[in-house]
Amino acid sequence: MRVSVLCSATLFSWATFAFPANLLNGDISEATLAEITSLTQKITRDLEAQRQGSHVKRSFNAEAQRIDTTGEHRYIKPGPNDLRGPCPGLNVMANHGYLPRNGMSTILQTATASNEVFGMGIDLSTFLSVYAAVMAGDLTTFSIGGKPKSSGLLGLTSSLGLTGAPQGLSASHNRFEHDASPTRDDLYSTGDTDSLNMDYFKQLLSMPLGPNGIDDSVFAAYRVERVRHSIATNGHYFAGPLTFFALNPATYQFTYRFYANHTAENPVGYLDAQTLMAFQGVTEENGEYKWNPGQETFPENWYRRVIGDDYGIVPFTAEAVSIELANPELIRLGGNTGEPNTFTGVDVDDLTGNVLNAQTLLEGNNLMCLAFSAALEASPDILGGLVGNVLLAVEKLTGALEPVLALLNCPQITKFDTTLFKAFPGAGSGL
Ligand SMILES: *[C@@H]1O[C@H](CO)[C@@H](O)[C@H](O)[C@H]1NC(C)=O
Repeated sequence: MRVSVLCSATLFSWATFAFPANLLNGDISEATLAEITSLTQKITRDLEAQRQGSHVKRSFNAEAQRIDTTGEHRYIKPGPNDLRGPCPGLNVMANHGYLPRNGMSTILQTATASNEVFGMGIDLSTFLSVYAAVMAGDLTTFSIGGKPKSSGLLGLTSSLGLTGAPQGLSASHNRFEHDASPTRDDLYSTGDTDSLNMDYFKQLLSMPLGPNGIDDSVFAAYRVERVRHSIATNGHYFAGPLTFFALNPATYQFTYRFYANHTAENPVGYLDAQTLMAFQGVTEENGEYKWNPGQETFPENWYRRVIGDDYGIVPFTAEAVSIELANPELIRLGGNTGEPNTFTGVDVDDLTGNVLNAQTLLEGNNLMCLAFSAALEASPDILGGLVGNVLLAVEKLTGALEPVLALLNCPQITKFDTTLFKAFPGAGSGL
C-alpha cells in the first residue's frame, strides 16, 4: 500500500498519517468536502491555464498587483483573543482581514488568500494548508498561532490532532516548525520558536545586498550562517529529510519570493529593509529595532508577484535544489548527538536502501523527492483505514496534485530507515 502510493508520487497521502482516530472511522462534513472539491477544481484549472499560457510573457499590472490596505483590509492590531503565530505571512493576512482576524482559518481560506495576496502557487498553498490543518489542526480549521480558543468547523477540538488536541502551528516541532529558521530560535535552545530573535534579524539586515536587495542570493548565504550557528549552539540540532530539504528552505526562499515589491522596472521584485521590517512586525526608532509580536503589516503601496507568475511546487523545488547544489553543506542530513558541534551525518544510501546516494541525491528533483517520501514512509500505513468523506477528500486532493508531482519525476524510494535517526535526541518523529 505504502509503496504504491509513493510510486504515484502522491504528496498528499503522506498527510494522512496524522488523521486522528475518530476521523478515520468517521466523516468530515459535507461543507469541508465541498471546500476541498472546489480547491481541487481550482488546482486543475490553474494547471491547465499554465499549460496554455506558458508561452505568454507576463508583465507588470499595477492595478492587479497592488494589495489594498484600506477599508475592510486596513490594519487592525490583533486583540487579546486573536491568535497569531510563527508565520509572518499568515499573521499579516489576518491583521489585514485577508484571513479571519481571529486567527482561525480553514483550508480554503488559507490556500486561496495565499494565492491571491502573495502569488503562492495554488498547488503549494493547498498543500501547505492541508498539511497544516492535518498536522496542527483538525483537518478543516487550524490556528495560525497557539492553542485554539474556539473549536474548528467540526467542533471537535477537544479530541483531535496528532498529539491529542490541535495545538496550532506554534507547537509543531519537526512537523512544520524546524531548526535553523531565519529569525526564530531553535526549540531546544530557548523553548520559544514564535518570537523573532532580533540578533538574527539584524544579522540578516547586515548581509551585503544582492541585485534585488535582500534577495535569493542573500537568503542562501544567510541560511548557511544560520545552519552553522545552530550546529554550534544547539545540542539537539536535527536536519531531517523533510525539515531540512523542504521546510527549512521554504522559510528562506518564501521571504524574498513573497515579500519583494514588484514594479514595472523590476517585475522579479526588489526586497528592501523597510518592506521586510513591515512584514516582520519590526519598527525602528533612533537606530533601535523593536519587534512587535503579531503586528505584521502590509507596507503601503506594495505590489505582489506578477499575476500568473505564481511560485508553486515546481519553481520552489528548482530553486531549493540549485541553492543546495551551490552550498554542499546544506545537503548534510543528520544532527547533533546531544552537545553542540557533534553533528553526525546520515548516509543517504543507508537511509534509502541504496535507491539514492550522495551523487544521485543532487540529480533532478531527488532532494525534494526524498523529503516528501520521508514524511510518507514515516507514517503508519493507515491509508487503507480511511473511509467515507475523509477518503474521498484525500483522493480528490491526491488526484489533483498528481500532474504537478509527476513533473518532479521522483524515483521509487521503497525503503526509509528511520532507525538511523535514533542517535539524535532532537530528531523527534524523524522528519
Ligand atoms: C514599490 O515600488 C513602487 C514603484 O517603484 C513604489 O512606488 C512603492 O513605493 C514601492 N513600495 C514599497 C512598499 O516599497
